[in-house]
Amino acid sequence: MSTPLNTSSSVWQDLQQHRQSWEGVTLRQLFHDDPQRAQHFSAEACGLYLDYSKHLINSETLRLLMALARMRRLEERRTAMFAGEQINHTEGRAAFHAALRAPKGRVMRTAGVDVVPEVHKVLEHMAAFTRSIHEGTWRGATGQPIRKIINIGIGGSYLGPEMAWKALRAYRHPGMELRFVANVDGATFTDVTANLDPAETLFIISSKTFTTLETMTNAQEARHWITAALGEAAVARHFVAVSTNTEAVKAFGMDTEHMFGFWDWVGGRYSMDSAIGLSTMLGVGVEHFTALLAGFHAMDTHFQTAPLEQNLPVLMGLLALWYNNFWGAQTQAILPYAHDLARFPAYLQQLQMESNGKSVDEDGHPVAVDTGAIIWGEPGTDGQHSFYQLIHQGTRLIPCDFIGFCQPLSPLAKQHELLMANLIAQAEALAFGKTAEELRAEGVAEAQVPFRVFSGNRPSTVLLADALTPPTLGALVALYEHSVFTQGIIWGIDSFDQWGVELGKVLAQRIVADMRGTASHPHDASTMALLQRYLQRRGA
Ligand code: F6P
Repeated sequence: MSTPLNTSSSVWQDLQQHRQSWEGVTLRQLFHDDPQRAQHFSAEACGLYLDYSKHLINSETLRLLMALARMRRLEERRTAMFAGEQINHTEGRAAFHAALRAPKGRVMRTAGVDVVPEVHKVLEHMAAFTRSIHEGTWRGATGQPIRKIINIGIGGSYLGPEMAWKALRAYRHPGMELRFVANVDGATFTDVTANLDPAETLFIISSKTFTTLETMTNAQEARHWITAALGEAAVARHFVAVSTNTEAVKAFGMDTEHMFGFWDWVGGRYSMDSAIGLSTMLGVGVEHFTALLAGFHAMDTHFQTAPLEQNLPVLMGLLALWYNNFWGAQTQAILPYAHDLARFPAYLQQLQMESNGKSVDEDGHPVAVDTGAIIWGEPGTDGQHSFYQLIHQGTRLIPCDFIGFCQPLSPLAKQHELLMANLIAQAEALAFGKTAEELRAEGVAEAQVPFRVFSGNRPSTVLLADALTPPTLGALVALYEHSVFTQGIIWGIDSFDQWGVELGKVLAQRIVADMRGTASHPHDASTMALLQRYLQRRGA
Protein backbone atom coordinates (compact mmCIF):
# COMPACT_ATOMS: atom_id res chain seq x y z
CA MET A 1 0.00 0.00 0.00
CA SER A 2 1.32 3.46 -0.74
CA THR A 3 1.79 6.11 1.90
CA PRO A 4 -0.44 9.21 1.73
CA LEU A 5 0.87 11.99 -0.49
CA ASN A 6 2.67 14.56 1.60
CA THR A 7 2.44 17.99 0.02
CA SER A 8 4.74 19.39 2.71
CA SER A 9 7.53 17.14 1.45
CA SER A 10 10.53 18.92 0.04
CA VAL A 11 9.95 17.51 -3.47
CA TRP A 12 6.36 18.75 -3.63
CA GLN A 13 7.39 22.10 -2.21
CA ASP A 14 10.26 22.33 -4.71
CA LEU A 15 7.83 21.65 -7.53
CA GLN A 16 5.52 24.38 -6.30
CA GLN A 17 8.40 26.80 -6.13
CA HIS A 18 9.68 25.70 -9.49
CA ARG A 19 6.24 26.37 -10.95
CA GLN A 20 6.58 30.01 -9.86
CA SER A 21 9.73 30.30 -11.96
CA TRP A 22 7.58 29.70 -15.07
CA GLU A 23 5.90 33.10 -14.92
CA GLY A 24 6.85 34.94 -18.09
CA VAL A 25 8.74 32.01 -19.65
CA THR A 26 7.70 31.28 -23.22
CA LEU A 27 8.05 28.25 -25.42
CA ARG A 28 9.30 30.61 -28.13
CA GLN A 29 12.20 31.53 -25.89
CA LEU A 30 12.88 27.95 -24.84
CA PHE A 31 13.01 26.74 -28.44
CA HIS A 32 15.21 29.69 -29.35
CA ASP A 33 17.61 28.98 -26.49
CA ASP A 34 17.86 25.28 -27.20
CA PRO A 35 17.85 24.39 -30.91
CA GLN A 36 17.98 20.71 -29.88
CA ARG A 37 14.87 20.98 -27.71
CA ALA A 38 12.82 18.65 -29.94
CA GLN A 39 15.50 15.98 -29.53
CA HIS A 40 16.02 16.63 -25.83
CA PHE A 41 12.32 16.28 -25.05
CA SER A 42 11.27 13.33 -27.12
CA ALA A 43 11.32 9.57 -26.63
CA GLU A 44 10.36 6.51 -28.61
CA ALA A 45 9.18 3.00 -27.81
CA CYS A 46 7.00 0.25 -29.29
CA GLY A 47 6.55 2.18 -32.54
CA LEU A 48 5.33 5.33 -30.77
CA TYR A 49 7.30 8.56 -31.04
CA LEU A 50 6.51 10.92 -28.16
CA ASP A 51 7.27 14.59 -28.73
CA TYR A 52 6.84 16.39 -25.42
CA SER A 53 9.02 19.36 -26.28
CA LYS A 54 6.03 21.70 -26.52
CA HIS A 55 5.33 21.36 -22.82
CA LEU A 56 5.99 24.00 -20.20
CA ILE A 57 8.92 22.07 -18.81
CA ASN A 58 12.69 22.14 -18.73
CA SER A 59 15.27 19.67 -17.46
CA GLU A 60 14.74 20.92 -13.90
CA THR A 61 10.98 20.24 -14.16
CA LEU A 62 11.71 16.72 -15.27
CA ARG A 63 14.30 16.21 -12.56
CA LEU A 64 11.78 17.24 -9.92
CA LEU A 65 8.95 15.17 -11.38
CA MET A 66 11.22 12.12 -11.49
CA ALA A 67 12.23 12.79 -7.88
CA LEU A 68 8.53 12.91 -7.00
CA ALA A 69 7.94 9.58 -8.77
CA ARG A 70 10.83 8.04 -6.83
CA MET A 71 9.67 9.52 -3.54
CA ARG A 72 6.27 7.93 -4.21
CA ARG A 73 8.03 4.59 -4.87
CA LEU A 74 6.64 4.30 -8.37
CA GLU A 75 9.16 1.63 -9.38
CA GLU A 76 8.35 -0.46 -6.32
CA ARG A 77 4.60 -0.13 -6.88
CA ARG A 78 5.05 -1.03 -10.54
CA THR A 79 6.91 -4.18 -9.47
CA ALA A 80 4.04 -4.99 -7.10
CA MET A 81 1.50 -4.66 -9.92
CA PHE A 82 3.46 -6.94 -12.26
CA ALA A 83 4.03 -9.37 -9.38
CA GLY A 84 0.27 -9.86 -9.05
CA GLU A 85 0.06 -8.30 -5.59
CA GLN A 86 -3.36 -7.16 -4.37
CA ILE A 87 -2.78 -3.53 -5.23
CA ASN A 88 -6.54 -2.98 -5.56
CA HIS A 89 -6.88 -2.81 -1.79
CA THR A 90 -10.50 -1.78 -1.45
CA GLU A 91 -11.64 -4.80 -3.45
CA GLY A 92 -8.89 -7.11 -2.20
CA ARG A 93 -7.73 -7.93 -5.73
CA ALA A 94 -4.69 -7.80 -7.93
CA ALA A 95 -4.68 -5.54 -10.99
CA PHE A 96 -3.05 -8.09 -13.20
CA HIS A 97 -4.18 -7.10 -16.71
CA ALA A 98 -0.54 -7.37 -17.86
CA ALA A 99 -0.93 -11.15 -17.54
CA LEU A 100 -3.63 -11.07 -20.23
CA ARG A 101 -1.04 -10.27 -22.87
CA ALA A 102 1.89 -12.25 -21.54
CA PRO A 103 3.37 -14.60 -24.13
CA LYS A 104 2.83 -18.31 -23.68
CA GLY A 105 5.42 -19.77 -21.35
CA ARG A 106 5.94 -16.59 -19.35
CA VAL A 107 5.30 -17.16 -15.64
CA MET A 108 3.05 -14.57 -13.98
CA ARG A 109 1.76 -15.49 -10.55
CA THR A 110 -0.94 -13.97 -8.44
CA ALA A 111 -1.96 -15.58 -5.15
CA GLY A 112 0.66 -18.22 -5.87
CA VAL A 113 -0.92 -19.31 -9.17
CA ASP A 114 0.72 -18.90 -12.57
CA VAL A 115 -2.21 -17.51 -14.55
CA VAL A 116 -0.59 -17.46 -18.01
CA PRO A 117 -1.61 -21.07 -18.89
CA GLU A 118 -5.26 -20.23 -18.00
CA VAL A 119 -5.08 -17.03 -20.06
CA HIS A 120 -3.83 -18.94 -23.08
CA LYS A 121 -6.41 -21.66 -22.62
CA VAL A 122 -9.14 -19.03 -22.91
CA LEU A 123 -7.37 -17.42 -25.88
CA GLU A 124 -7.28 -20.80 -27.60
CA HIS A 125 -10.99 -21.32 -26.88
CA MET A 126 -11.68 -17.87 -28.34
CA ALA A 127 -9.53 -18.64 -31.39
CA ALA A 128 -11.25 -21.98 -32.02
CA PHE A 129 -14.65 -20.35 -31.75
CA THR A 130 -13.61 -17.47 -34.01
CA ARG A 131 -12.35 -19.87 -36.67
CA SER A 132 -15.51 -21.93 -36.46
CA ILE A 133 -17.58 -18.81 -37.17
CA HIS A 134 -15.29 -17.59 -39.95
CA GLU A 135 -15.07 -20.99 -41.59
CA GLY A 136 -18.79 -21.62 -41.22
CA THR A 137 -18.53 -24.75 -39.08
CA TRP A 138 -20.53 -22.91 -36.41
CA ARG A 139 -23.80 -21.93 -37.99
CA GLY A 140 -27.07 -20.47 -36.83
CA ALA A 141 -30.10 -22.60 -35.95
CA THR A 142 -31.33 -22.64 -39.55
CA GLY A 143 -27.92 -23.58 -40.91
CA GLN A 144 -27.01 -20.11 -42.11
CA PRO A 145 -23.48 -18.86 -41.49
CA ILE A 146 -23.13 -16.19 -38.81
CA ARG A 147 -22.31 -12.82 -40.34
CA LYS A 148 -23.43 -10.31 -37.71
CA ILE A 149 -22.11 -10.20 -34.17
CA ILE A 150 -23.83 -8.08 -31.55
CA ASN A 151 -21.89 -7.45 -28.36
CA ILE A 152 -24.22 -6.68 -25.47
CA GLY A 153 -22.26 -5.08 -22.64
CA ILE A 154 -21.58 -1.69 -21.11
CA GLY A 155 -18.64 0.28 -19.71
CA GLY A 156 -15.51 -1.83 -19.84
CA SER A 157 -17.47 -4.63 -21.46
CA TYR A 158 -18.26 -2.39 -24.41
CA LEU A 159 -16.02 0.64 -24.89
CA GLY A 160 -12.81 -1.28 -25.67
CA PRO A 161 -14.39 -3.68 -28.19
CA GLU A 162 -16.24 -0.87 -29.95
CA MET A 163 -13.15 1.35 -30.02
CA ALA A 164 -11.04 -1.52 -31.41
CA TRP A 165 -13.63 -2.51 -34.04
CA LYS A 166 -13.52 1.01 -35.41
CA ALA A 167 -9.76 1.47 -34.94
CA LEU A 168 -8.95 -1.76 -36.75
CA ARG A 169 -11.33 -1.09 -39.63
CA ALA A 170 -8.57 -1.84 -42.16
CA TYR A 171 -8.06 -5.30 -40.66
CA ARG A 172 -11.64 -6.51 -40.55
CA HIS A 173 -12.39 -10.09 -41.46
CA PRO A 174 -14.27 -10.07 -44.76
CA GLY A 175 -17.99 -10.50 -44.38
CA MET A 176 -18.12 -9.96 -40.61
CA GLU A 177 -19.99 -7.07 -39.09
CA LEU A 178 -19.96 -6.08 -35.42
CA ARG A 179 -22.60 -4.01 -33.68
CA PHE A 180 -22.86 -2.94 -30.05
CA VAL A 181 -25.73 -2.58 -27.61
CA ALA A 182 -24.77 -0.83 -24.36
CA ASN A 183 -27.38 1.75 -23.33
CA VAL A 184 -30.54 0.45 -21.65
CA ASP A 185 -32.51 2.88 -23.83
CA GLY A 186 -34.71 0.58 -25.93
CA ALA A 187 -33.90 2.76 -28.92
CA THR A 188 -30.38 1.30 -28.91
CA PHE A 189 -31.55 -2.29 -29.24
CA THR A 190 -34.15 -1.38 -31.85
CA ASP A 191 -31.68 0.65 -33.84
CA VAL A 192 -28.89 -1.93 -33.71
CA THR A 193 -31.11 -4.88 -34.70
CA ALA A 194 -32.95 -2.98 -37.44
CA ASN A 195 -32.68 -4.79 -40.77
CA LEU A 196 -30.81 -7.71 -39.25
CA ASP A 197 -31.67 -11.31 -39.98
CA PRO A 198 -31.78 -13.29 -36.70
CA ALA A 199 -30.73 -16.40 -38.57
CA GLU A 200 -27.24 -14.98 -39.24
CA THR A 201 -26.85 -13.02 -35.97
CA LEU A 202 -24.87 -14.06 -32.89
CA PHE A 203 -25.10 -12.26 -29.55
CA ILE A 204 -22.16 -12.07 -27.18
CA ILE A 205 -23.36 -11.21 -23.69
CA SER A 206 -20.31 -9.53 -22.17
CA SER A 207 -20.39 -8.76 -18.47
CA LYS A 208 -17.77 -9.37 -15.84
CA THR A 209 -20.40 -9.66 -13.11
CA PHE A 210 -23.33 -10.84 -15.27
CA THR A 211 -25.58 -8.74 -13.04
CA THR A 212 -25.38 -5.31 -14.70
CA LEU A 213 -28.90 -3.99 -15.17
CA GLU A 214 -28.40 -2.60 -18.67
CA THR A 215 -26.69 -5.71 -19.98
CA MET A 216 -29.10 -8.18 -18.42
CA THR A 217 -32.11 -6.22 -19.71
CA ASN A 218 -30.70 -6.02 -23.22
CA ALA A 219 -29.74 -9.72 -23.07
CA GLN A 220 -33.35 -10.66 -22.24
CA GLU A 221 -34.54 -8.53 -25.13
CA ALA A 222 -32.10 -10.27 -27.45
CA ARG A 223 -33.38 -13.64 -26.26
CA HIS A 224 -36.95 -12.60 -27.20
CA TRP A 225 -35.74 -11.31 -30.53
CA ILE A 226 -34.04 -14.61 -31.38
CA THR A 227 -36.67 -16.99 -29.98
CA ALA A 228 -39.55 -15.07 -31.58
CA ALA A 229 -37.93 -15.62 -34.97
CA LEU A 230 -36.20 -18.99 -34.57
CA GLY A 231 -37.70 -20.74 -31.54
CA GLU A 232 -36.37 -21.55 -28.07
CA ALA A 233 -33.86 -24.15 -29.28
CA ALA A 234 -32.01 -21.46 -31.26
CA VAL A 235 -30.59 -19.88 -28.10
CA ALA A 236 -27.65 -22.29 -27.96
CA ARG A 237 -26.53 -21.38 -31.51
CA HIS A 238 -27.07 -17.63 -31.23
CA PHE A 239 -25.74 -16.74 -27.78
CA VAL A 240 -22.37 -16.97 -26.10
CA ALA A 241 -21.29 -15.37 -22.82
CA VAL A 242 -18.16 -13.64 -21.61
CA SER A 243 -18.03 -13.38 -17.84
CA THR A 244 -16.32 -14.24 -14.57
CA ASN A 245 -19.67 -15.42 -13.13
CA THR A 246 -20.37 -18.98 -14.22
CA GLU A 247 -23.39 -19.39 -11.94
CA ALA A 248 -25.15 -16.31 -13.31
CA VAL A 249 -24.45 -17.43 -16.89
CA LYS A 250 -26.06 -20.79 -16.11
CA ALA A 251 -29.00 -19.09 -14.40
CA PHE A 252 -29.56 -17.05 -17.56
CA GLY A 253 -30.05 -20.35 -19.35
CA MET A 254 -26.85 -20.29 -21.34
CA ASP A 255 -24.59 -23.23 -22.02
CA THR A 256 -21.35 -22.71 -20.06
CA GLU A 257 -19.54 -24.69 -22.73
CA HIS A 258 -19.90 -21.54 -24.78
CA MET A 259 -18.80 -19.26 -22.02
CA PHE A 260 -15.46 -17.47 -22.21
CA GLY A 261 -14.10 -16.73 -18.78
CA PHE A 262 -11.83 -14.21 -17.19
CA TRP A 263 -10.83 -13.41 -13.65
CA ASP A 264 -11.53 -10.97 -10.84
CA TRP A 265 -8.01 -9.55 -11.22
CA VAL A 266 -9.10 -8.05 -14.56
CA GLY A 267 -10.80 -4.68 -14.02
CA GLY A 268 -13.66 -3.89 -16.43
CA ARG A 269 -11.83 -0.94 -17.99
CA TYR A 270 -8.67 -3.06 -18.33
CA SER A 271 -10.42 -5.96 -20.02
CA MET A 272 -10.48 -5.34 -23.77
CA ASP A 273 -7.58 -7.78 -24.13
CA SER A 274 -9.32 -10.51 -22.11
CA ALA A 275 -12.26 -12.64 -23.33
CA ILE A 276 -14.15 -9.32 -23.43
CA GLY A 277 -12.19 -8.95 -26.69
CA LEU A 278 -14.04 -11.93 -28.23
CA SER A 279 -16.03 -9.61 -30.49
CA THR A 280 -12.75 -7.93 -31.51
CA MET A 281 -11.24 -11.30 -32.38
CA LEU A 282 -14.34 -12.23 -34.39
CA GLY A 283 -14.18 -8.87 -36.11
CA VAL A 284 -10.52 -8.84 -37.13
CA GLY A 285 -9.45 -12.46 -36.87
CA VAL A 286 -7.14 -14.43 -34.59
CA GLU A 287 -3.86 -13.21 -36.09
CA HIS A 288 -4.67 -9.51 -35.77
CA PHE A 289 -5.96 -10.00 -32.23
CA THR A 290 -2.72 -11.79 -31.36
CA ALA A 291 -0.76 -8.89 -32.84
CA LEU A 292 -2.83 -6.47 -30.75
CA LEU A 293 -1.85 -8.39 -27.61
CA ALA A 294 1.80 -8.31 -28.67
CA GLY A 295 1.58 -4.50 -28.84
CA PHE A 296 0.16 -4.38 -25.32
CA HIS A 297 2.92 -6.66 -24.09
CA ALA A 298 5.66 -4.63 -25.76
CA MET A 299 4.48 -1.53 -23.89
CA ASP A 300 4.26 -3.51 -20.63
CA THR A 301 7.89 -4.52 -21.07
CA HIS A 302 8.90 -0.96 -21.89
CA PHE A 303 7.07 0.36 -18.83
CA GLN A 304 8.73 -2.24 -16.63
CA THR A 305 12.26 -1.88 -17.92
CA ALA A 306 12.93 1.57 -19.38
CA PRO A 307 14.54 4.14 -17.08
CA LEU A 308 11.92 6.55 -15.77
CA GLU A 309 13.43 9.39 -17.76
CA GLN A 310 12.80 7.58 -21.06
CA ASN A 311 9.68 5.75 -20.01
CA LEU A 312 6.72 6.84 -22.14
CA PRO A 313 3.89 6.07 -19.67
CA VAL A 314 5.88 7.63 -16.82
CA LEU A 315 6.58 10.77 -18.83
CA MET A 316 2.97 11.11 -19.91
CA GLY A 317 1.65 10.45 -16.41
CA LEU A 318 3.96 12.98 -14.82
CA LEU A 319 3.22 15.63 -17.45
CA ALA A 320 -0.51 15.20 -16.85
CA LEU A 321 0.10 15.57 -13.12
CA TRP A 322 2.29 18.66 -13.64
CA TYR A 323 -0.58 20.56 -15.23
CA ASN A 324 -3.25 19.10 -12.97
CA ASN A 325 -1.54 19.85 -9.67
CA PHE A 326 0.78 22.75 -10.43
CA TRP A 327 -1.01 24.69 -13.18
CA GLY A 328 -4.62 24.12 -12.15
CA ALA A 329 -5.60 22.44 -15.43
CA GLN A 330 -8.89 20.65 -14.94
CA THR A 331 -9.13 18.85 -18.23
CA GLN A 332 -7.05 17.10 -20.84
CA ALA A 333 -8.05 16.84 -24.49
CA ILE A 334 -7.46 13.68 -26.52
CA LEU A 335 -7.30 14.61 -30.19
CA PRO A 336 -6.69 11.70 -32.56
CA TYR A 337 -6.05 12.73 -36.14
CA ALA A 338 -7.54 9.48 -37.35
CA HIS A 339 -11.14 8.81 -38.23
CA ASP A 340 -10.59 5.23 -37.10
CA LEU A 341 -9.77 6.40 -33.56
CA ALA A 342 -13.09 8.19 -33.24
CA ARG A 343 -14.01 6.26 -30.09
CA PHE A 344 -10.57 6.48 -28.50
CA PRO A 345 -11.41 9.58 -26.41
CA ALA A 346 -14.54 7.83 -25.06
CA TYR A 347 -12.46 4.75 -24.25
CA LEU A 348 -9.92 6.87 -22.39
CA GLN A 349 -12.69 8.65 -20.51
CA GLN A 350 -13.61 5.45 -18.71
CA LEU A 351 -10.01 4.30 -18.36
CA GLN A 352 -8.84 7.52 -16.77
CA MET A 353 -11.91 8.97 -15.07
CA GLU A 354 -13.18 5.73 -13.52
CA SER A 355 -9.63 4.88 -12.43
CA ASN A 356 -8.48 8.19 -11.01
CA GLY A 357 -11.73 9.98 -10.18
CA LYS A 358 -11.12 9.49 -6.47
CA SER A 359 -11.02 11.88 -3.51
CA VAL A 360 -9.70 9.63 -0.77
CA ASP A 361 -6.36 7.87 -0.65
CA GLU A 362 -5.71 4.21 0.04
CA ASP A 363 -6.00 4.88 3.77
CA GLY A 364 -9.46 6.37 3.29
CA HIS A 365 -8.27 9.91 4.03
CA PRO A 366 -9.04 12.88 1.79
CA VAL A 367 -6.37 13.38 -0.88
CA ALA A 368 -4.60 16.68 -0.42
CA VAL A 369 -4.62 17.63 -4.12
CA ASP A 370 -6.78 17.35 -7.21
CA THR A 371 -6.79 13.89 -8.77
CA GLY A 372 -7.95 12.64 -12.20
CA ALA A 373 -8.48 15.27 -14.86
CA ILE A 374 -11.61 15.46 -16.99
CA ILE A 375 -10.84 13.64 -20.23
CA TRP A 376 -12.58 14.64 -23.42
CA GLY A 377 -11.95 14.92 -27.13
CA GLU A 378 -12.94 14.34 -30.72
CA PRO A 379 -11.01 13.42 -33.80
CA GLY A 380 -9.20 16.18 -35.69
CA THR A 381 -9.92 18.02 -37.88
CA ASP A 382 -13.59 18.06 -36.79
CA GLY A 383 -12.72 19.58 -33.42
CA GLN A 384 -10.80 22.41 -35.07
CA HIS A 385 -14.07 23.79 -36.40
CA SER A 386 -15.79 23.42 -33.07
CA PHE A 387 -14.00 23.68 -29.70
CA TYR A 388 -10.39 24.49 -30.65
CA GLN A 389 -11.24 28.21 -30.42
CA LEU A 390 -11.37 27.85 -26.65
CA ILE A 391 -8.14 25.86 -26.52
CA HIS A 392 -6.33 28.56 -28.54
CA GLN A 393 -7.80 31.75 -27.13
CA GLY A 394 -9.90 30.85 -24.09
CA THR A 395 -8.93 31.56 -20.51
CA ARG A 396 -8.29 27.94 -19.56
CA LEU A 397 -5.15 25.87 -19.89
CA ILE A 398 -5.98 22.61 -21.67
CA PRO A 399 -3.10 20.24 -22.26
CA CYS A 400 -3.74 18.33 -25.50
CA ASP A 401 -2.64 14.91 -26.72
CA PHE A 402 -2.42 14.88 -30.50
CA ILE A 403 -2.25 11.37 -31.97
CA GLY A 404 -1.32 10.86 -35.61
CA PHE A 405 0.00 8.36 -38.12
CA CYS A 406 2.56 8.86 -40.87
CA GLN A 407 0.90 6.40 -43.24
CA PRO A 408 -2.76 6.58 -44.22
CA LEU A 409 -5.11 3.66 -43.90
CA SER A 410 -7.30 5.03 -46.63
CA PRO A 411 -6.11 5.11 -50.25
CA LEU A 412 -6.79 8.86 -50.30
CA ALA A 413 -3.21 9.99 -49.68
CA LYS A 414 -3.82 13.65 -50.49
CA GLN A 415 -6.37 13.89 -47.67
CA HIS A 416 -3.98 12.19 -45.26
CA GLU A 417 -1.36 14.82 -45.99
CA LEU A 418 -3.87 17.56 -45.20
CA LEU A 419 -4.90 15.77 -42.03
CA MET A 420 -1.33 15.46 -40.77
CA ALA A 421 -0.48 19.01 -41.79
CA ASN A 422 -3.34 20.13 -39.59
CA LEU A 423 -2.14 18.08 -36.63
CA ILE A 424 1.37 19.46 -36.84
CA ALA A 425 0.07 23.00 -37.39
CA GLN A 426 -2.24 22.88 -34.39
CA ALA A 427 0.56 21.87 -32.02
CA GLU A 428 2.72 24.63 -33.51
CA ALA A 429 -0.01 27.27 -33.19
CA LEU A 430 -0.79 26.32 -29.60
CA ALA A 431 2.84 26.47 -28.56
CA PHE A 432 4.00 29.61 -30.35
CA GLY A 433 0.84 31.60 -31.02
CA LYS A 434 0.94 34.89 -32.83
CA THR A 435 2.04 38.16 -31.28
CA ALA A 436 0.56 41.64 -31.70
CA GLU A 437 3.81 42.71 -33.39
CA GLU A 438 3.53 39.97 -35.95
CA LEU A 439 -0.06 40.92 -36.66
CA ARG A 440 0.86 44.60 -37.10
CA ALA A 441 3.72 43.65 -39.38
CA GLU A 442 1.18 41.80 -41.51
CA GLY A 443 -0.87 44.98 -41.72
CA VAL A 444 -3.72 43.89 -39.47
CA ALA A 445 -5.81 46.92 -38.44
CA GLU A 446 -5.00 48.02 -34.88
CA ALA A 447 -8.61 47.63 -33.74
CA GLN A 448 -8.47 43.97 -34.72
CA VAL A 449 -5.16 43.14 -33.11
CA PRO A 450 -6.39 42.18 -29.60
CA PHE A 451 -8.84 39.70 -31.08
CA ARG A 452 -6.33 38.10 -33.35
CA VAL A 453 -3.50 37.61 -30.91
CA PHE A 454 -2.71 34.02 -29.99
CA SER A 455 -0.93 33.91 -26.65
CA GLY A 456 0.81 30.60 -27.39
CA ASN A 457 2.41 28.68 -24.51
CA ARG A 458 -0.42 26.18 -24.65
CA PRO A 459 1.07 22.76 -24.04
CA SER A 460 0.62 19.65 -26.14
CA THR A 461 2.00 16.18 -26.62
CA VAL A 462 2.33 14.72 -30.09
CA LEU A 463 2.25 10.95 -30.37
CA LEU A 464 3.26 9.81 -33.82
CA ALA A 465 3.28 6.23 -35.12
CA ASP A 466 3.90 4.89 -38.60
CA ALA A 467 0.44 3.39 -39.03
CA LEU A 468 -2.60 2.39 -37.02
CA THR A 469 -1.83 -1.32 -36.91
CA PRO A 470 -3.04 -3.86 -34.30
CA PRO A 471 0.27 -3.80 -32.35
CA THR A 472 0.32 0.00 -32.42
CA LEU A 473 -3.20 0.12 -31.01
CA GLY A 474 -2.22 -2.33 -28.24
CA ALA A 475 0.85 -0.26 -27.37
CA LEU A 476 -1.21 2.93 -27.37
CA VAL A 477 -3.83 1.54 -24.98
CA ALA A 478 -1.18 0.10 -22.63
CA LEU A 479 0.63 3.46 -22.73
CA TYR A 480 -2.42 5.21 -21.33
CA GLU A 481 -3.13 2.39 -18.85
CA HIS A 482 0.31 2.78 -17.32
CA SER A 483 0.12 6.57 -17.42
CA VAL A 484 -3.09 6.34 -15.37
CA PHE A 485 -1.30 3.97 -12.97
CA THR A 486 1.64 6.39 -12.64
CA GLN A 487 -0.67 9.25 -11.69
CA GLY A 488 -2.63 7.09 -9.23
CA ILE A 489 0.57 6.04 -7.46
CA ILE A 490 1.69 9.65 -7.03
CA TRP A 491 -1.70 10.56 -5.52
CA GLY A 492 -1.77 7.40 -3.39
CA ILE A 493 -5.25 6.41 -4.54
CA ASP A 494 -6.70 3.05 -5.60
CA SER A 495 -6.92 3.35 -9.38
CA PHE A 496 -8.63 -0.01 -9.71
CA ASP A 497 -11.89 0.31 -7.80
CA GLN A 498 -15.02 2.25 -8.84
CA TRP A 499 -17.25 2.63 -5.81
CA GLY A 500 -18.50 5.92 -7.22
CA VAL A 501 -20.78 4.12 -9.66
CA GLU A 502 -22.67 2.20 -6.95
CA LEU A 503 -24.99 4.75 -5.35
CA GLY A 504 -26.73 5.68 -8.59
CA LYS A 505 -27.29 1.99 -9.39
CA VAL A 506 -28.92 1.35 -5.99
CA LEU A 507 -31.12 4.44 -6.18
CA ALA A 508 -32.24 3.55 -9.71
CA GLN A 509 -33.40 0.13 -8.47
CA ARG A 510 -35.45 1.80 -5.72
CA ILE A 511 -36.99 4.23 -8.17
CA VAL A 512 -37.86 1.40 -10.56
CA ALA A 513 -39.78 -0.22 -7.66
CA ASP A 514 -41.53 3.11 -6.97
CA MET A 515 -42.49 3.44 -10.64
CA ARG A 516 -43.84 -0.08 -10.80
CA GLY A 517 -45.76 0.38 -7.55
CA THR A 518 -44.00 -2.53 -5.84
CA ALA A 519 -42.53 -0.20 -3.21
CA SER A 520 -42.84 3.36 -2.03
CA HIS A 521 -39.57 4.86 -0.92
CA PRO A 522 -39.28 8.26 0.70
CA HIS A 523 -37.43 10.80 -1.44
CA ASP A 524 -36.62 14.49 -1.34
CA ALA A 525 -39.14 16.96 -2.80
CA SER A 526 -37.35 17.32 -6.13
CA THR A 527 -37.04 13.57 -6.70
CA MET A 528 -40.72 13.09 -5.73
CA ALA A 529 -41.86 15.83 -8.11
CA LEU A 530 -39.84 14.35 -10.99
CA LEU A 531 -41.20 10.90 -10.29
CA GLN A 532 -44.78 12.15 -10.11
CA ARG A 533 -44.45 14.15 -13.28
CA TYR A 534 -42.97 11.18 -15.10
CA LEU A 535 -45.75 8.85 -13.88
CA GLN A 536 -48.48 11.30 -14.86
CA ARG A 537 -47.13 12.05 -18.30
CA ARG A 538 -45.47 8.85 -19.47
CA GLY A 539 -48.44 7.79 -21.51
CA ALA A 540 -49.93 4.36 -21.75
O1 F6P B 1 -20.72 0.63 -13.49
C1 F6P B 1 -19.38 0.61 -13.78
C2 F6P B 1 -18.91 -0.75 -14.14
O2 F6P B 1 -18.81 -1.55 -13.02
C3 F6P B 1 -17.60 -0.69 -14.90
O3 F6P B 1 -16.49 -0.64 -14.09
C4 F6P B 1 -17.69 -1.91 -15.75
O4 F6P B 1 -16.79 -1.83 -16.80
C5 F6P B 1 -19.14 -1.84 -16.18
O5 F6P B 1 -19.82 -1.37 -15.04
C6 F6P B 1 -19.74 -3.12 -16.66
O6 F6P B 1 -19.71 -4.12 -15.69
P1 F6P B 1 -19.96 -5.62 -16.07
O7 F6P B 1 -18.89 -6.04 -17.03
O8 F6P B 1 -19.87 -6.38 -14.78
O9 F6P B 1 -21.32 -5.72 -16.69
